[in-house]
Amino acid sequence: MDKLLIKGGNPLNGEICISGAKNAALPILASTLLAETPSYISNVPNLQDITTMMSLLGRMGIEFVIDEKLNIEAKSHNIHTFTAPYEMVKTMRASILVLGPLVARFGQAYVSLPGGCAIGARPVNLHIEGLTAMGADINVEGGYITAQAKRLHGATIMMDIVTVTGTENLMMAASLADGVTTLENAAREPEVVDLANCLKSMGAHIEGAGTSTIRIEGVEKLSGTDYSVLPDRIETGTYLVAATMTGGKVKVKNTDANLLDAVLLKLLEAGATITRGNDWIELDMQGRRPRAVNIHTSPYPAFPTDMQAQLTAMNAIAEGVGMLTETVFENRFMHISELQRMGAEIRLEGNTAIINGVERLQAAPVMATDLRASAGLVLASLVAEGETLVDRIYHIDRGYERIEEKLTQLGAEIRRSH
Ligand code: EPZ
Repeated sequence: MDKLLIKGGNPLNGEICISGAKNAALPILASTLLAETPSYISNVPNLQDITTMMSLLGRMGIEFVIDEKLNIEAKSHNIHTFTAPYEMVKTMRASILVLGPLVARFGQAYVSLPGGCAIGARPVNLHIEGLTAMGADINVEGGYITAQAKRLHGATIMMDIVTVTGTENLMMAASLADGVTTLENAAREPEVVDLANCLKSMGAHIEGAGTSTIRIEGVEKLSGTDYSVLPDRIETGTYLVAATMTGGKVKVKNTDANLLDAVLLKLLEAGATITRGNDWIELDMQGRRPRAVNIHTSPYPAFPTDMQAQLTAMNAIAEGVGMLTETVFENRFMHISELQRMGAEIRLEGNTAIINGVERLQAAPVMATDLRASAGLVLASLVAEGETLVDRIYHIDRGYERIEEKLTQLGAEIRRSH
């Protein structure tokens, strides 16, 4: 199992390029199931989750042509299988995103329930309830969702919890339904907007993406498109936090500062100087130690849960006490026990972590448990005294393209060991 060995103490300086957003590329790849003609998707990050999604779509019959830059042509004229088996879905929960497209275009789907993961039970009841409201006949047994529909019809769907992939699944399904669907309390994440823009370029009629109410007027069929995935705001935020923690100066390029206002505000509060252009952000910490900040995670545009572990790591070495409340997932503090082993002073009270910043963390062997927790541990290693070994980094490879290459480019001492 791969490990990362990181020697702490170097301020990060320099420039890196941000990759396409994993959480936009995944639903956009699934949406190619809806199109009668080929689609060309570019700026797709080279990540394990992307490979998993493509192998799942491939076994359904999508033919892929991929170039060396991972520009992808997807042909969906010969879909012959409508199943997403457990052995694939258990490795990547986002496989659930094939459910809406399969039912909408082919009237049938047999998709394994994703099951929980390290950060929570992560049910998909809202995906199922929404498709049922659109006329799908759904049966859940033996760990599988069996869905059938002659043709989905429009419906008004109130989602009682804001769900990103739930909104995405239902928006894709509604694009080919007969009539108008309104999604109330919809997720507003930029990745939802990116999917909506991609669907519109395929011929879908969608209004309100990015707001809490999305209106979709179904059409008879959708055509392939040529679409470039938006930049990854969480990768962007992660490297900016790395610069803040190490007192360095980093410019992230091929990104969009408008996607992470809540994160940038917190880094300004921590004492960073931030300048921004239309596709870059530069953060300069001028060698200073960050000040502790208080965080309350919530759906977009509030502070993203996917940046919580990274800010926990920053608060661990910041000046002062930081309070951090996680409201989206019920078990997203797995990184805290690992940070405590590095000397962090953190107390958990329910879903709030009270973090008393210390001057220095100590290197220690630590273990990644989920994608963003592992990012938090890598950040902590960058400022710890000594060489930290981060184990089970297959988690990190799911969401960060070439992380050791990009961190080395910024002056970190990091290497992978097998
Ligand atoms: C998406 O997961 C992201 N994944 C997650 O990123 C991200 O953390 C999450 O949204 C929140 O922003 C992808 O986009 C592939 P949710 P998703 O449905 O859609 C509850 C990463 O690090 N819920 O928005 O699965 C659920 O339990 C990953 O890249 C229901 O109760 O998250 C949770 O408490 C981790 N019933 C809350 O809603 C449902 O039917 C938000 O979950 C659906 C969700």
